[in-house]
Amino acid sequence: MPISKKNQLIGIDVGSHSIKIVEIQDTKKGMVLKNFGIIGLPQEAIVEGSIKEMEIVSAALKNLLKNLKIKNKNVATSISGYSVIVKKITVPKKERADLEQSIQGEAEQYIPFDISDVNLDFQILTPGKEEEEEQEEEEKEEFMDVLLVAAKKDIVEEYISLLHLSEINPLVLDIDAFALQNAFEISDHEQSGCHALVNIGAQQLTINVIDYGVSIFTRDSAYGGAQITSEIQKKLNISYQEAENIKLGAKPIENEKRPIIEDIFTTGVSNWCQEIKRALDFVRSTSPNIKIENILLSGGSSLMPGFSKYLGLETDLKVEMLDPFPNIEIREKTFDISYLKYMAPQAAVSIGLALRYIGDK
Ligand SMILES: Nc1ncnc2c1ncn2[C@@H]1O[C@H](COP(=O)(O)OP(=O)(O)OP(=O)(O)O)[C@@H](O)[C@H]1O
Ligand SMILES: [Mg+2]
Repeated sequence: MPISKKNQLIGIDVGSHSIKIVEIQDTKKGMVLKNFGIIGLPQEAIVEGSIKEMEIVSAALKNLLKNLKIKNKNVATSISGYSVIVKKITVPKKERADLEQSIQGEAEQYIPFDISDVNLDFQILTPGKEEEEEQEEEEKEEFMDVLLVAAKKDIVEEYISLLHLSEINPLVLDIDAFALQNAFEISDHEQSGCHALVNIGAQQLTINVIDYGVSIFTRDSAYGGAQITSEIQKKLNISYQEAENIKLGAKPIENEKRPIIEDIFTTGVSNWCQEIKRALDFVRSTSPNIKIENILLSGGSSLMPGFSKYLGLETDLKVEMLDPFPNIEIREKTFDISYLKYMAPQAAVSIGLALRYIGDK
């Protein structure tokens, strides 16, 4: 008994390590998982968020769509990385239509790229609980906060081309950080208060700090599991795939080489922890009244042995895995539940995308 069927979108997360596809169906009884699939990509097919091997990535995507027998051609996808900028800016209070006219001029000073090279979008923010208390009456009347999103046109065009080449319609282009927020919002995790969402993939570390439902800080940095795999490859002089297998514990390794691997793990994981700590310290310094309550992890590399414990010690915060599934019905007849549970961290962004509807921005 599907409702609003024609408005639903397929969520496609094109990561540098793999493409993830999720289809969720709204029914009278709630959300039901209809499809989930993942397909690996060769190393270097996507580098720093840019698609280097368009044909290869498109072939993989088409393959996955075919295997999953997906009929709906309307999709939501996302981009991330240095070519996406999200900033909270303060502008003189005005109507939405007026802001649409003037946003280009307002944004110029905050964007490190030529303004004609970016696509701009914005959202007028209603003040969070803490901020509202902080704001002076006078200020409240004259200014408003706006969340500015700028994405470099060449990257946007790459992703649109990929989807066209794969014979599907890109109807929503999101960013990873917001897709993550969507997945968090449908979860059973506490929503009130301030929570740091952290997704670590193969090449990208995404942070989105949510305060009472409002994103107050996002950052993408070039950290991820591929660095650890490359380091193993270099140090042991083996292929990338062999190094990946050693990293994941799927290939045994001689005892004398164990300390080398352990050293690479510790250095990599500790770099990620420092990056997260720096970001959270920045949030605390700019919003001193905010108390971050916990960190919710997702992304394949958040499963690195010891990482979550180390992050807890470094930040002095409770670290948990983000579980996006509890309010999505998963039918045992259709899915292997333990496999899905194992894949949940990697699926977070694609689940967030599959929650989008036609007409969403
Ligand atoms: N159990 C595990 N332990 C450690 N690392 C893992 C595990 N499972 C997956 N990974 C690593 O997670 C990464 C893939 O995660 P994910 O699917 O989130 O990345 P992606 O979305 O493809 O990449 P991007 O960073 O470009 O978004 C790979 O580097 C992979 O080696
Ligand atoms: Mg990713």
